[in-house]
Amino acid sequence: ADTLRLAVIPGDGIGQEVTVEALKVLAAVLDGSGHRVETTEYDLGARLYHRTGETLPDSVLEEVRGHDAILLGAIGDPSVPSGVLERGLLLKLRFALDHYVNLRPSKLFPGVPTPLADPGEIDFVVVREGTEGPYVGNGGAVRVGTPHEIATEVSVNTAFGVERVVRDGFARAAARPRKKLTLVHKHNVLVHAGHLWRRTVEAVAAEFPDVAVDYLHVDAATIFLVTDPSRFDVIVTDNLFGDILTDLAAAVTGGIGLAASGNVNPDRTTPSMFEPVHGTAPDIAGQQIADPTAAVLSVALLLDHLGLGDAAARVDAAVTADLARRAAGEVGARPTAAVGDALAAAVVA
Ligand code: IPM
Ligand code: MN
Repeated sequence: ADTLRLAVIPGDGIGQEVTVEALKVLAAVLDGSGHRVETTEYDLGARLYHRTGETLPDSVLEEVRGHDAILLGAIGDPSVPSGVLERGLLLKLRFALDHYVNLRPSKLFPGVPTPLADPGEIDFVVVREGTEGPYVGNGGAVRVGTPHEIATEVSVNTAFGVERVVRDGFARAAARPRKKLTLVHKHNVLVHAGHLWRRTVEAVAAEFPDVAVDYLHVDAATIFLVTDPSRFDVIVTDNLFGDILTDLAAAVTGGIGLAASGNVNPDRTTPSMFEPVHGTAPDIAGQQIADPTAAVLSVALLLDHLGLGDAAARVDAAVTADLARRAAGEVGARPTAAVGDALAAAVVA
């Protein structure tokens, strides 16, 4: 379609500011391309919750479903009890829209400061499962608040769910130059789920003879992410391990201000959702000091998902050049909007 119908959920805190810049860059990169963007903004998050007690009304979910894609800023606020917006809005969207691939690329752009002394070339992608694992809310607590309290949080892993995300990981690995897939789990302890993942990877590997496969326990994977991150190409892992690994991956590639993500439904039966990995940073919200780069890179993932690879590459190139200018000291600290303006100017074909 020539009209890209985009649902926009700026959310809370700096989500608002960074989304404005991401949309600015999106409009600029598609200007003159024949594609136009039609946005519908949804005011979801802490404000709606305080006003109505709702997090994601069914009617809104159904409306959002009718779009080609979703751009999300960030969700969460200290004024709302922990878990309410996370479960009731963000995870509800991921689950309801069956975003089973949580795609999180990690790339060390030239010149970007990293805490690693000798990082090598870092360019990998984490394919984090997005609809199962310990995130499903399968658990409970008894004798709460007593010394005898028992709380469980049972990780759910289905053959169907594991296979589809593993297959997606292999397909992505097969399309990359290095063609390498690393399964990360903990099958020496989590024997039930771990062996399901291991067997599934073995089985699907037979369909992708060009892809080299290896395995790491999650604890060892954290070591290698710091000591030898260039060994990774595609990592496939469960929802919680993927959550933790991708924060570490962001930390070694310039920080959470640069980490983009896509909540993807590869079957395209629902709109996929793109969001920076960072949170709402209430301490700096509204001050125009947040870096919109992660949101802008999320737009690149969105464009790529929609088959607009050229536009995605231009956004990527603009960010790469901007980061190099920062490294060279050619630009100093800029307001959020100034970064967006610079990137929007740079993406014009
Ligand atoms: C993320 C976040 C979310 C997650 C939270 C806010 C529910 O940490 O997107 O990584 O755990 O997936
Ligand atoms: Mn996280």
